[in-house]
Amino acid sequence: MQIQAKSSDALKHKADALVIGIFEGKQLSETAASLDAESGAISKILSQEKFTGQAGASLTLLQNIGQSATRLVLLGLGKATAGEVSQQNFKTALGKLPALAKQYRHIALDLNGITVSDNDAKASAKLVAKTLATSLWQFSAFKTDKPQKPALQKLTLLCDKKSVAPFNTGSKEGIALASGINLARELGNLPGNVCTPTYLSKQARAMVRGHSEATVKVLSEKQMQDLGMGAFLSVSVGSDEPGQMIILEYRGGAKNKAPLALVGKGVTFDTGGISLKPGAGMDEMKFDMCGAASVLGTFQSILDIKPKINVVAVIAAAENMPSGNATKPGDIVTTMSGQTVEILNTDAEGRLVLCDALTYVQRYKPSAIVDVATLTGACVVALGSHAHGLYSNDEALAEKLLAAGKAADDKAWHMPLWDEYQKQLDSNFADMANIGGREAGSVTAACYLSRFVKDCKWAHLDIAGTAWKSGGAKGATGRPVSLLLEYLTS
Ligand code: BES
Ligand code: MN
Ligand code: ZN
Repeated sequence: MQIQAKSSDALKHKADALVIGIFEGKQLSETAASLDAESGAISKILSQEKFTGQAGASLTLLQNIGQSATRLVLLGLGKATAGEVSQQNFKTALGKLPALAKQYRHIALDLNGITVSDNDAKASAKLVAKTLATSLWQFSAFKTDKPQKPALQKLTLLCDKKSVAPFNTGSKEGIALASGINLARELGNLPGNVCTPTYLSKQARAMVRGHSEATVKVLSEKQMQDLGMGAFLSVSVGSDEPGQMIILEYRGGAKNKAPLALVGKGVTFDTGGISLKPGAGMDEMKFDMCGAASVLGTFQSILDIKPKINVVAVIAAAENMPSGNATKPGDIVTTMSGQTVEILNTDAEGRLVLCDALTYVQRYKPSAIVDVATLTGACVVALGSHAHGLYSNDEALAEKLLAAGKAADDKAWHMPLWDEYQKQLDSNFADMANIGGREAGSVTAACYLSRFVKDCKWAHLDIAGTAWKSGGAKGATGRPVSLLLEYLTS
């Protein structure tokens, strides 16, 4: 799909459908008013119809009233003052686009004289592109009867002259963002028998192909052994699928500039290991690699946008299975950092693969590290499915991530990482245990990770509640690609 901004006369613009805005109370947008000035047709139609311009309502006219486009669609934008509509109403209205995209090959969306509160032109176009490209995506890899492809091939954004450039930049960024989100959803939804650690490493390799500014390297279990990654290997040892540590690098900035680091939990299936999970709903543990998927998705968007920054992404990919050689409760392992861990519960495996990835990524002397993980059920209890749990050892970094989440409509909530919680990880036999008891499970998981970051700004996003939806709409959400991309590019 192609999106292009143009500053041509909306009424003379040829398209299969021209979409023009009507504000709440049957108020006409700039283009609607100029079309109405010629024949009075719009006023007449509005006087006969229930449609009042409420956000998200629409009316497709079957007669031509003077426009060059085949069909004219009146789109309700809700309340407006001097053409400015609220973000919420704009989003609600954009919700109509996918249905139109199913029907029309070329849509022209008229935004002349229409602005969105707290959005500049670029941000509005980005929102249009993101909304459209994510809503047209469907997961159909395993459906024999493929759903019909949307008709839409071209969306033209009609605007004034000075908005053309920001509209084009915004829609380009919106499409790049959507491609990252959609990749994260695709990978997340793939079943555990397809999306293995090896599959993820193949995806990473394919992603950088043809991009001279990006490289990929995959550490084998043997190499991880040599590096002393005893915690990571204690998870993958129970599985026939070999664990993989995937390292992607993007160099768009100055050579000597420290990279920003992303680290993703890529447990491609989490049975709990010997501390086996109950059977009900266990299928959803195929989503336990959504942190990794969001890091890969973000990396994909970065390759599209090519910002002038350096990024290193590490994905800790392993399958957590029970077997004859699986790790047992009480086993003690030595992490790459040298610290020892008593594994009291093999179902707390995410922190085990992540701690070695965190130690490893510090070789790149990153300016900040953000790890992303479906880490704890306790985070779902605490925050539900609306906000990611955010933990950080650096106040300014936390503020940046919170702001990025707000700006990108992908919110996080700041959680405490206080020393008081650390003692819950005490072990009688090793430097620490891998679980911290019943209380504050999401906090103690973050406390565990914090012990592996030395003198570096670091933040942890617990996305256990936000990475996928359960029930009838079961599926990966692609979060927090929007937050991460906003953080990296702002
Ligand atoms: N992947 C799970 C966390 C999870 C559970 C995410 C449910 C989303 C929904 C993680 O590996 C896990 O099993 N965590 C345990 C930790 C516990 C043993 C301390 C949990 O949350 O129960
Ligand atoms: Mn687990
Ligand atoms: Zn897990």
